[in-house]
Amino acid sequence: MDSYLVNGKNPLNGSVSIHGAKNSVLPILAGTILVKGKSVIRNCPNLSDVFATARILEHLGCVVSWEDSVMTVDATDITETKIPESLMQEMRSSVLFLGALIARTGEATISCPGGCELGPRPIDLHVKSLKRLGVTFEEDGDNIRCKARQMYGRKIMLDFPSVGATENAMLAACSAKGNTIICNAAREPEIVDLQGFLRSMGAKVWGAGSNTILIEGGHLLHAGEYSVMPDRIVTATYMSAVAAATGEVELIGGDLQTIAPVAATLIEAGCQIQSDRKKICIESKFPLKGVRPIYTAPYPGFPTDAQPIVMSALACGVGSTVFIESIFTNRYSQVDSLRRMGAAIQVDGKKAHVNGNPFLKGAQLEAYDLRGGAALIVAALSAEGESEITGLQFIDRGYEKLEENLQFLGADIKRIKSEAEVNALFDLDVVKALGG
Ligand code: UD1
Repeated sequence: MDSYLVNGKNPLNGSVSIHGAKNSVLPILAGTILVKGKSVIRNCPNLSDVFATARILEHLGCVVSWEDSVMTVDATDITETKIPESLMQEMRSSVLFLGALIARTGEATISCPGGCELGPRPIDLHVKSLKRLGVTFEEDGDNIRCKARQMYGRKIMLDFPSVGATENAMLAACSAKGNTIICNAAREPEIVDLQGFLRSMGAKVWGAGSNTILIEGGHLLHAGEYSVMPDRIVTATYMSAVAAATGEVELIGGDLQTIAPVAATLIEAGCQIQSDRKKICIESKFPLKGVRPIYTAPYPGFPTDAQPIVMSALACGVGSTVFIESIFTNRYSQVDSLRRMGAAIQVDGKKAHVNGNPFLKGAQLEAYDLRGGAALIVAALSAEGESEITGLQFIDRGYEKLEENLQFLGADIKRIKSEAEVNALFDLDVVKALGG
């Protein structure tokens, strides 16, 4: 497995472009199977989760092509309705294929989805909403088989504004007969982006961004193009990296409105942030001060995905801050590694008490999930000496060209290829040299 070697204490300066949002592109790509024709998806990030989604689409019979950041999915013929366990286990958002496949073919079989281990992640809300539309579910060992000869539009009341369940219901409702109203819907910007995609392809969807979404079902979707929104969590990551390491950076394409609670926290901690419609500028000169308690909540609250990353920035500051993680039960995976660097963090159930220490030291660190892994990079950038970070397979799920961008901003970060990979490359070179 690859690792990062980071030597901290270099200020970050310059500008970096924010790539397309992982959490938008995944439901959008699942949605391409509703289109009997070609969907051209622009600003599509090159991420391992996107590659995994492309493999699922190909398995289902789609023809997928990719050039730079444009992915084209031709879903004219869907030849398969079962997604094998090997593909499902690669990431949790594969569960979104449930709503999309049922909408397109009337049936779907999946196994329990994979993804980052953030505590128990049930799919009961997905199942409940699809059942409201008339989908029947059958469990067969580890597989879930669903069928619906005809779905009917209904009122769906979500017990919690789950992002994935809202997206699944939106996708399925596009082909239901009549109108569907999703109440207590998630309001995340990625839901608005999914609505934007569906509307570009001819679907009738309104209300995304509010807690009530209306879908007029039964309209055939047509070929079209859509450009994915910039990734707000990647934006928050670079902002936190600058906040921790100091410097002045422009984030081209960053949208401050989508990440307002993170910006407000970093301003309260001492950063200066400005933005216009094209970019966000952040400047950090001093170690961060402690801030009021940070309570993660569904949008427009503080995003749970930004919690570990902002925690790292505050852990190398000078004040104390309390975090309350209310969305996931296992979201402090970064804490042990941060403590190894000298961070003073106490976890007590959902709460984490952080006492800033501006003298963190480089250490051996391991990522256990995507954002927890990004948090380790943020801390390593501000620490004295060298850190080695392993577990990059998690970080690769959500960040494109991370080390190149950070190097460009002045960070001392290198990706070290694993021995096995180097040997494989060496063998390939030897074979080539021998004319093989
Ligand atoms: C999405 C994001 C993820 C983010 C999360 C919360 C994608 C690909 N992933 O995940 O990065 O951290 O939103 O903003 O967009 N829940 C249930 N039953 C369900 C579904 C969810 O109890 O059927 C619970 C979950 O266990 C969790 C909470 O609801 O505690 C939030 O989950 P949800 O909003 O569904 O997150 P995801 O869509 O999985």
